[in-house]
Amino acid sequence: MLTLTEFALVLILLTRLCNPKEWKFPDDFKFGVATSAFQIEGGWDADGKGVSIWDVLGHNRSVLVKDGSNGDVACDSYNKWEEDVMMVKNLGVDCYRISLSWTRILPEGYGTKINPAGVDYYNKLINKLLENGIEPVITLYHWDLPQFFSSLGGWTNPVIVEHFANYARIAFKLFGDRIKTWITINEPRLICQMFKGLVGDVTPNFPLGVAEYLCAHNLLKAHAEAYHIYDKEFRLRQKGKISITLDITWSEPANASNPEDVRAAEQNVLFDFGIYANPILDFDYPRVVIDRVAERSKLENLPESRLPKFTLAEKMRIKGTYDFLGINHYITTYTRAVDDLPVNRPSIDIDAGGERFSDPSWEGCGAGWIKVVPWGLRRLLNWIKNTYRNPDIIITESGYADGSEVFEDDGRINYYRVYLNATLQAILEDGVNVKGYMAWSLMDNYEWIFGYTLKFGLYHVNFTDPNRTRTPKKSVQYFKDLTRTRRIN
Ligand code: NOJ
Repeated sequence: MLTLTEFALVLILLTRLCNPKEWKFPDDFKFGVATSAFQIEGGWDADGKGVSIWDVLGHNRSVLVKDGSNGDVACDSYNKWEEDVMMVKNLGVDCYRISLSWTRILPEGYGTKINPAGVDYYNKLINKLLENGIEPVITLYHWDLPQFFSSLGGWTNPVIVEHFANYARIAFKLFGDRIKTWITINEPRLICQMFKGLVGDVTPNFPLGVAEYLCAHNLLKAHAEAYHIYDKEFRLRQKGKISITLDITWSEPANASNPEDVRAAEQNVLFDFGIYANPILDFDYPRVVIDRVAERSKLENLPESRLPKFTLAEKMRIKGTYDFLGINHYITTYTRAVDDLPVNRPSIDIDAGGERFSDPSWEGCGAGWIKVVPWGLRRLLNWIKNTYRNPDIIITESGYADGSEVFEDDGRINYYRVYLNATLQAILEDGVNVKGYMAWSLMDNYEWIFGYTLKFGLYHVNFTDPNRTRTPKKSVQYFKDLTRTRRIN
């Protein structure tokens, strides 16, 4: 006798066998690859570019970078952009996600003194992509904050909101006639939590559990301003879409029949992702975040919650500022509830509670934090569908790292195969509105504090060669087959 689940599985299998043609990505689904300016461009001071916080970290505090390297040359895409476009074309993908370097366009970061050479660089790149039938998807901010703002406290200072809005308006004016998909900010959680004041995007002078929330608060307002500027001043003529990209770690209860673990797992997703997603896709911060931070602030004898409050007008201004939801996904963990959390060193992580761990049997890769757990992707897509009324989702990043030079990258091929399959299951079987999948990354590049030690690329880059020679890995052929057939091989 079959159980209900077994019966359902047999049914799915039979349907698939009878309709092999159906197990295919829908026609409007877009495949893409992604990179970001600082990680590939190099040309850190070329032709009038201003300095960013990552330039400064690479020059003055490279001890913080695993291989002591910097992004001065990176993949040299500032000079090799035409070759990059040909590599993207060779993959047969629909789009290429890049980011703009704020200080290449506005060397000072503020005001209206535009660097013509920077504008020229992006114009050439965008035009070349379009000539080759590739849609450029542009992220305005992928972590390379103009150094000037660092001395003001980075994202913890509310002045950043008007300066980001100014930069966004300039970018829409300069490039928006050709751009149909904009992303305001990449992975706010990493900006506010990950580098913990090391880089200058968050001031090191506040306690973490204060700085992280201030950063999130200003960042949400900055995103909303950019959205409204686009909506009011550009959308009608330029006819594009705009949103934000959030990273999402899936958190699975350690013991699904223990309500405490179930609560802790969801709480972690809400603290990591909901803190940004809720104000935009719903209204205000998640209730559990508001209540827990207030409660824990009380325990710390603070007169007020460490979580800043939005006014009603601000909540209304942030709500609905998305035309789709961009997500980056790399991590699944188990979470178990923890009772006694320390009260003397406030941080989002501790406020969220819950202890995360991964199953030792999960396959790993060069990046210790990435395990191959495709069902995590499927679950989180379903969770977003159910929590936020099934928005259109674009997976703006997903990828696998090798820790050394690997050309026969079967691990990566398998990763894409199973993650794309999980995406397809979410679309075809669960009705999640996933509209695109972009592989991180087009080529090996500067992986922030890991320098050049982690290799995420479909193309290998030789970083010891002044020419930064690119060579296709085996996964390039996998991607070509995928984009040609729109099926998972
Ligand atoms: C997400 C970030 O957006 C990207 O810059 C980074 O390289 C990848 N994660 C891999 O860690």
